[in-house]
Amino acid sequence: MTDKIAYSRHDDIVVLRIQNPPVNALSQAVRQGLADGMDRAEAEDGVRAVMIVGEGRAFIAGADITEFGKPPMEPFLPDLCNRIEASPLLVVASMHGVSLGGGLEVALSAHYRIAQPSARVGLPEVHLGLIPGAGGTQRLPRLIGVEPALDAITTGRHIKAPQALEMGIVDRVEEGDPQEVGLAYVRELLDSGAERRPICEMPAPAPIDWDAAYEVTLKKGRGQISPAEAVRAVQAGVEKPFEEGMKAERRIFSELMNTDQRQGMIHAFFSERAVSNLPELKGVEPRELKAIGVIGGGTMGAGIATAALLSGSSVVLIEMKEEAAKAAHERISGNLQGALKRGKIDQAKFDHLTGTALTVSTEYDSLSDVDLVVEAVFEDMDVKKQVFGKLDAVCKPGCVLASNTSYLDVNEIAASTKRPEDVIGLHFFSPAHVMKLLEVVVADKTAKDVVATGFALGKALGKISVRAGVCDGFIGNRILATYRTAADHMVLDGASPYKIDAALEKFGFAMGPFAVADLAGLDIGWATRKRKAATRHPEERVPTYIDRLCEQGHFGQKTGQGYYLYEKGKRGGTPNPEITRLIEEEQKERGITPREFTEAEIVRRYMCAMVNEAAKVLEEGIAKRPLDIDMTLLFGYGFPRYWGGPMKWADIQGLPNVLAAIEGFAEKDPWFWKPAPLLVDLVKTNRTFDDLNKEAAK
Ligand code: 3HC
Ligand code: NAI
Repeated sequence: MTDKIAYSRHDDIVVLRIQNPPVNALSQAVRQGLADGMDRAEAEDGVRAVMIVGEGRAFIAGADITEFGKPPMEPFLPDLCNRIEASPLLVVASMHGVSLGGGLEVALSAHYRIAQPSARVGLPEVHLGLIPGAGGTQRLPRLIGVEPALDAITTGRHIKAPQALEMGIVDRVEEGDPQEVGLAYVRELLDSGAERRPICEMPAPAPIDWDAAYEVTLKKGRGQISPAEAVRAVQAGVEKPFEEGMKAERRIFSELMNTDQRQGMIHAFFSERAVSNLPELKGVEPRELKAIGVIGGGTMGAGIATAALLSGSSVVLIEMKEEAAKAAHERISGNLQGALKRGKIDQAKFDHLTGTALTVSTEYDSLSDVDLVVEAVFEDMDVKKQVFGKLDAVCKPGCVLASNTSYLDVNEIAASTKRPEDVIGLHFFSPAHVMKLLEVVVADKTAKDVVATGFALGKALGKISVRAGVCDGFIGNRILATYRTAADHMVLDGASPYKIDAALEKFGFAMGPFAVADLAGLDIGWATRKRKAATRHPEERVPTYIDRLCEQGHFGQKTGQGYYLYEKGKRGGTPNPEITRLIEEEQKERGITPREFTEAEIVRRYMCAMVNEAAKVLEEGIAKRPLDIDMTLLFGYGFPRYWGGPMKWADIQGLPNVLAAIEGFAEKDPWFWKPAPLLVDLVKTNRTFDDLNKEAAK
C-alpha cells in the first residue's frame, strides 16, 4: 500500500480512501495504492465489497496531468480500471466534488456509483487535446448509449449529479458524508443480494452514422482533432469486442498524447492557473471590494457594471446627463435580461440587481463610499484627467481609481491625481460582462495592494487577469496592431481580406482580422489612422482604401457594409465587391503588381509578426512572462486554445525557424520586420519561451 490510500475494514466492506490533495489526481502512487488495496481486500477473509471514496474536495479529478509527456509508469490506468472491474468483490464508488476524466473512468469500473447532489462528473480530456484513455469511450456508451456518451465526451462538459442520475451514469444521489452514505449504500446492496455489474459485460449499444458524427464534430472543433477522434474510439467499442475497443482507445489516446495540440492545450491549462499567480504579490492582501463605482455607462461602462452586479457587488454608475443615465440603466437591464433568459439569474435576482444593487446618478458625490471606481468615459486624455480630478476629490481614502482606457498613458492619468499610488488600469474587453480577459495595467507608482485588488476584482468577476505594463495598447492591443499591419501589407501585395480571413479561421482563430474589424466598427481604426498620420514614419505602409469606404459612411456590421456586406437578420457577411475594387485601385496607384499568397504563407507572416512584437513586449517588461501573452491572446483575441498561445506556437515551430522566417521577410521590408533582440538571444542561447516561464516561476 502507498500512503496515498487509507485502507480500512468495516465488517465485510473494505474502504479505499484516496488521500492525494488537492484534487486526488491519479498519480502513480495513487494507482499503485488502489491496485494494492484491491489485492489486499480480495485476499482477506470475509470481505464481500470494496468502496472507493476520496478525501478532501473531490473524488478524483483525473489522471495526474503533471505526469503527461514523461515516461509512463505502471500500473497503467486502463489496466487498473480493468482490474477493479474484474474483481470478484462488489465494487462501489462514492463520489463527491468532481469525478473527472480518469476519475470518472475509475468510477465506471466500479459496479455501482453513488454521488452527492453537489457532485459533478465528466470526461473533459478533449480540453487537454486527448480522449478518455482508461475505458471512458468504451464504458460510458455501453452504460448510457452512444449519443449521450458522445455528447459528454466530445464537449467534455461537467454533468451535475442529478442529471447524471437521469442519464444513468450514477445509480443513486444522496446527501451526507460520502463515506457514511456510501457505506450505507453498499450495505443495502449486499443485503439485497445485488450482483457485480461490470460494464464491460453489458451489450454493445446501437451504432450511429459514424462518418457523419465524425465530420460534424470535426467542424465544431474548428481544427481541434481530439473530439473527432473520440468518435472513432466510441465506434471501435461498438463495432468490436470490448478488449478490441479498449486497444483502439489506447492507440488513439497515445497518438494524441504526441500531438502539438495536446502540448498546446496542457500549456493553456497550467498557464490559465499560473497567470494570476504573481511572485510580486505573494503575501500582499487586496483591499476591500464591496461597492464598485463605474464612470460612463456606454458600451464598456454598462458591461463592467453588469459584470460587477452579477458578482454580487453593489454598483454606483455616473453619467453626464439624465438622458445618458437612463440609457445606461437600460443597457445594463438589457444585459441582465440576457442572464435572466439564459437562466443564470431568476426574476427576483434581476429585480434586485436592477433595483437596490444599482444606483445610476449624475452626481459624483454618490461615489463617496465605493471601494473601487472604473472609469469608462470617452478615450480622450483631457476628459479622463477631468474625471480623475473629480474622483480624487470625492472618493474616500484608499479607494482604488481605475481606468478602462485602451491606449492612453496610465502614468499620465495617475499624475493628474494626488494619489497616483491608488491609480491602475483595468482594461476590460467588449462585451465586458462576457469576455474573459482583464488586463491589469500597473503604472509606475501603483501600490502593490492596488495591483492585488485589481486581480481580486478579476477573480470575483470570473475573469482571467493578466498583469501588463504601460505602453501604447498594453499587451494585447499593441501586439494586435502589429499582426494586423502584417495582414494589411499582405492585402496591398495581393492577398484578399477574404483569403486572409479564411486562412486564419482555418488555423483556428474564431474570426479573421477583417471580420473582426467589421464587428468592432471601422470608424475606430479610421480615427486612429487620422490621429497618427502626422507622426507616421515615411517607411510605414498604411493602406488607404479602407478610408475611402469610411468616407462613404460605411463602418462595418453596424452600417451593413464594411469588408463584408451584411444582410439584416443574417449572421456573417459576403465579400464586398467595393473593397476589391478599392484595393485594386490602390495597388495601381502604388504601382504594385499583386502576387499569390498561399494559406501557409499568410499564417506564417501573421504569426511571425505576432511573435516578434510579443518578444519586444516581453523584453520591455510590458509582459513579465511569455504565458501572460499567451493568455492575453487566448482570452481576449480568439486565439485557438489548442495552440496554447502565440509563444507556445513559436516554441512548437522551433524559435530558430520563426527567426529565420522573420529574417527572410526582412529582406524585402527591413523596416517592418526587425527581429526582436530577445528572440535573437533565445535562439543564440538555445532557449525557448517556455524556459522563460520556468525561470520566472523559480
Ligand atoms: N492533475 C494534476 N493536477 C491537477 C489536476 C490533474 N488532473 N487537476 C487539477 N490539478 C491541480 C491544478 O493544477 C491546481 O494546482 P495549483 O494549485 O498548483 O495551481 C490544483 O490542482 C487545484 O486546481 P484548480 O485551481 O483548477 O482548482 P478548482 O477547484 O478551480 O478546479 C478542477 C478543480 C475542476 C479539478 C480543475 O482543476 C480541473 O478541471 N482539472 C482538470 C480535470 C481534468 O482535465 N481531468 C482529466 C485529466 S486527463 C485524464 O484523466 C486522462 C485519462 O482519461 C486517462
Ligand atoms: P462609449 O462612447 O460607448 O461610452 C462612453 C460613455 O461615457 C458615454 O455614455 C458618455 O456619456 C460617458 N461619459 C463621457 N464623459 C463622461 C463624464 N465626464 N462623466 C460621466 N460619463 C461620461 O465608449 P466605450 O466604447 O464604452 O469606451 C469607453 C472607454 O473604454 C474608452 O476609454 C475606450 O477606449 C475603452 N474601451 C473600449 C472598448 C470597446 O470595445 N468599445 C474595449 C476596451 C476599452
